[in-house]
Amino acid sequence: MKDVSYVMERISCASFMPRVDSIIVLICSLSFYACSGNDMIKKPESIKDPDSITSKSSIFKLGFFSPLNSTNRYVGIWYNDISDLTVIWVANRDNPLNDSSGIFSMSQNGNLQVLNGKNEIVWSSNVSSTAFNRTAQLLDTGNLVIREADDTNNGNFTWESFKHPSNSFIAKMKLTTNLVTMDKQLLTSWKSPSDPSFGRFSAGIDPLGIPQVYIWDGNKPHWRSGPWNGQIFIGIPDMSSAYLDGVSLVDDQDGIVYMTYTYANKSIISVYRLNYRGNLMEIEWNYELNKWQVTWLAQNTECDFYGKCGPFGICNSQAKPICSCLRGFEPKYIKEWNRGNWSGGCVRRSPLNCDRSSGKRDGFLKLKMIKIPDFAEYASIEESDCERLCFQNCSCMAYAYNIGVGCMSWSVPLVDIQKFSGSGFPLFVRLAYSELGIVN
Ligand SMILES: *[C@@H]1O[C@H](CO)[C@@H](O)[C@H](O)[C@H]1NC(C)=O
Ligand SMILES: *[C@@H]1O[C@H](CO)[C@@H](O)[C@H](O)[C@H]1NC(C)=O
Ligand SMILES: *[C@@H]1O[C@H](CO)[C@@H](O)[C@H](O)[C@H]1NC(C)=O
Ligand SMILES: *[C@@H]1O[C@H](CO)[C@@H](O)[C@H](O)[C@H]1NC(C)=O
Ligand SMILES: *[C@@H]1O[C@H](CO)[C@@H](O)[C@H](O)[C@H]1NC(C)=O
Ligand SMILES: *[C@@H]1O[C@H](CO)[C@@H](O)[C@H](O)[C@H]1NC(C)=O
Ligand SMILES: *[C@@H]1O[C@H](CO)[C@@H](O)[C@H](O)[C@H]1NC(C)=O
Ligand SMILES: *[C@@H]1O[C@H](CO)[C@@H](O)[C@H](O)[C@H]1NC(C)=O
Repeated sequence: MKDVSYVMERISCASFMPRVDSIIVLICSLSFYACSGNDMIKKPESIKDPDSITSKSSIFKLGFFSPLNSTNRYVGIWYNDISDLTVIWVANRDNPLNDSSGIFSMSQNGNLQVLNGKNEIVWSSNVSSTAFNRTAQLLDTGNLVIREADDTNNGNFTWESFKHPSNSFIAKMKLTTNLVTMDKQLLTSWKSPSDPSFGRFSAGIDPLGIPQVYIWDGNKPHWRSGPWNGQIFIGIPDMSSAYLDGVSLVDDQDGIVYMTYTYANKSIISVYRLNYRGNLMEIEWNYELNKWQVTWLAQNTECDFYGKCGPFGICNSQAKPICSCLRGFEPKYIKEWNRGNWSGGCVRRSPLNCDRSSGKRDGFLKLKMIKIPDFAEYASIEESDCERLCFQNCSCMAYAYNIGVGCMSWSVPLVDIQKFSGSGFPLFVRLAYSELGIVN
């Protein structure tokens, strides 16, 4: 048994040195921490490029790597057994090492740090130092943690890589947002497949209104999931019936909301990755084909780009053109609209009666199979009261009711609406009486 694992460690160590010869392999396997199968780093231990440590059951590895088509060196964590190098976390993202003289160590003051050949710190875990003799450990979950010397630990780490995510979200991670302080943990895209530095895109939970998952391009929304109703994100088509199983949004009632996921089947390896183009994708390892397969994409059609059809526009990827105005509305800039620039959206055709005391009452038009608009206000009331609440308030332009979410209403322009073909939920849009009978 021992011999076998020794050989395997040696092989996996050598596998990151393309032109390795037997002498280097020997040095590598004899050096104290390198390839020892150890999952810990303590002061004054260190890992020197190209050495690595491996989690207890050899699921994850931490070491130095170069991205595809790059000679820069980074400290990262990847799946040990997957032949296709799949990095889930990077330390020195913005400060690459330009050669293989890098060192990863536990410093005197109890921080993990990446040093270059001149002993300059290019990255640090940057935890304040009141305690010493800390240990770092790579767990089988893929989490790199720092513990205090006296901590027997029950999930409270001094620092953990799971709380400083890169572009990847894996099982057991929690992507957390604090509703009180508004602090968000974000996935952040790489700049390109060969450059892990911070790209334009980020993803996380927005705490404003009803919590939803967003992808942002800079600070502009790029995609959103719709609210979580206890089982699914109601803005993701077909979520109930397909993939994304195991994902959930949890409100711990103490001001913390987080997204997490687990798989009942432990042999499934999957990663949610925010790619450099800003699309959130789920990839799953296919053991038979020996490669990753994309099992889900946040943005599948043009309609999945946030606010594609502008205010009061509705996007249907099955239609041509994909954008139209909600019934009772017309394009705001007709020329732009007709040439396929839908960002200006639509405006109301007939004024509402709401504020006047005479004339016929406004009504609600029911739209089916909808990705409901962004910026819902929320009320914890019965379905029957939801329409009344909206009707009684002239600034309320639409409402929707969903078990698990409650009564949602909108008093701002309706944006990011989609018509789905199989899933989605009803949306009730307030219209002048004269518009209600019109079929278009
Ligand atoms: C890497 O370089 C090769 C050859 O120049 C190129 O074909 C490939 O697209 C590059 N890959 C990436 C991810 O940049
Ligand atoms: C590599 O980085 C070191 C430290 O930043 C620097 O002094 C050195 O000039 C760099 N070498 C090259 C070849 O760029
Ligand atoms: C470490 O934290 C300090 C204080 O929060 C900050 O100013 C500094 O930029 C951080 N350094 C790194 C390398 O993250
Ligand atoms: C740290 O470890 C050293 C050696 O094991 C020990 O002598 C020292 O007392 C420890 N310091 C603290 C603060 O625990
Ligand atoms: C772990 O953290 C929780 C919540 O912050 C706290 O209640 C608990 O006492 C901590 N446990 C330890 C062992 O520090
Ligand atoms: C678990 O996943 C593996 C790999 O995809 C598959 O071969 C196996 O049949 C699955 N087991 C169950 C019980 O679904
Ligand atoms: C699209 O239309 C808006 C007005 O709705 C205009 O401001 C914008 O410049 C147009 N964009 C392009 C690319 O033509
Ligand atoms: C009507 O709705 C607006 C926007 O939600 C809200 O600010 C206002 O308080 C509501 N008015 C009444 C009477 O409920």
